[in-house]
Amino acid sequence: MFKDTIEGLDEVFFTDVEPPMVVIVRGPPGSMKSTFIHMLLAKYLEKRQNDFALYISYEETVRSQLKMIKRLGIDISLNLQISDLSDIRKLKGDKDTKVNYLDFTEKLLTHYKQKHGDEFSVFALDSLGALYSLILSSADAQEVRRRMYHFFEVLRDNNLVAFIIMESSLEGESKLLGDEGFLSDGIIMLGLRRKQGKLIRYLQVEKMRAVHHSMEMHAMDIQGNNLIVMGPIFDD
Ligand SMILES: Nc1ncnc2c1ncn2[C@@H]1O[C@H](COP(=O)(O)OP(=O)(O)O)[C@@H](O)[C@H]1O
Ligand SMILES: [Mg+2]
Repeated sequence: MFKDTIEGLDEVFFTDVEPPMVVIVRGPPGSMKSTFIHMLLAKYLEKRQNDFALYISYEETVRSQLKMIKRLGIDISLNLQISDLSDIRKLKGDKDTKVNYLDFTEKLLTHYKQKHGDEFSVFALDSLGALYSLILSSADAQEVRRRMYHFFEVLRDNNLVAFIIMESSLEGESKLLGDEGFLSDGIIMLGLRRKQGKLIRYLQVEKMRAVHHSMEMHAMDIQGNNLIVMGPIFDD
């Protein structure tokens, strides 16, 4: 999944991720969570041209995502399906008022699994916070917990590498319901740090089951059209 994708990522992951794997990508607004995952998916599909990836955003429209991808100089792969809330709403139909976005997300997933089979190998959800704000109005926290547990199982049953994006505050505290951390197989933190008055973006692996990885904070930046993971940054 990670090998030979984003430049410099091989310095972070010494062994690669094998499906099934549910990975939380957390970080404050502006830490390039969406950019990072879009870049990763694009590079992955470049090296595995038969594979298929699905990116669902509850935050951004397909249009705004396409704009962002274009700015990164990425050629959109035909094997990348980008969906937004309007696709889920279409599936849902107008009559149902008790909105069940998680079920419809699962339906969308199952639909593409039936269509692409084993070649559907990567999934991204942007973001869990946005999904929660949609479903928490119609279900209590305990019910959402139960469903999330089930949803993570569905991702694994479909043998996917699934990236679940999650917003956290600048202090690094995630707005979690509490269980996501240990339900997941991996956590990647994308953060912002102030260093000599300048904001530095970084990536740090907090957890990745069965993978040999670096524990350092790695600086991350956009250079030209490219997202690059650079060497470790240390406290001074
Ligand atoms: N092509 C680019 N060139 C320079 N900066 C970029 C580019 N793409 C994204 N950024 C920076 O990253 C920021 C947020 O990226 P985004 O992936 O939307 O973050 P998040 O999803 O974590 O909120 C943008 O506001 C911008 O500052
Ligand atoms: Mg985003």
